[in-house]
Amino acid sequence: MKVIIINGPNLNLLGKREPEVYGNKTFEDYFADLQFKFKDVQLEYFQSNIEGDLIGKIQEVGFSYDGIVLNAAAYTHTSVGIGDAIKAVSTPVVEVHISNTHKREEFRHVSYISPVAKGVILGFGLQSYDLAIQSFVK
Ligand code: DQA
Repeated sequence: MKVIIINGPNLNLLGKREPEVYGNKTFEDYFADLQFKFKDVQLEYFQSNIEGDLIGKIQEVGFSYDGIVLNAAAYTHTSVGIGDAIKAVSTPVVEVHISNTHKREEFRHVSYISPVAKGVILGFGLQSYDLAIQSFVK
């Protein structure tokens, strides 16, 4: 089974960025934990701060992988293009967020991903990614 985690803008700064919201761990360290835990899953990780790169990656993997775990970060709340890319591909997408976006500013309550995602997991810290992968492992 092939699953890719796609992270959007500023998530390359996890560990340094607003640790009170996003925690102290880098995503690279957490990704190593996930690879250790899900040994039977071919896990990949891609991060970009650029909207078009995220769309390109969704198109590239979206007809052959078994699952996409997507944290589109700030683009969640703005990107019609990422929403359309998810609609265009056949691989199911699970939307994740580290924080509970519904407890935060109102602009974070809007998601262009949720209406086209298979499901949504948010508010569990980095564990949100673990739960999303579990949803693909039947
Ligand atoms: C986030 C929530 C978004 O609102 C924010 O822009 C992020 C991270 C999260 O994982 O909690 O960059 O997607």
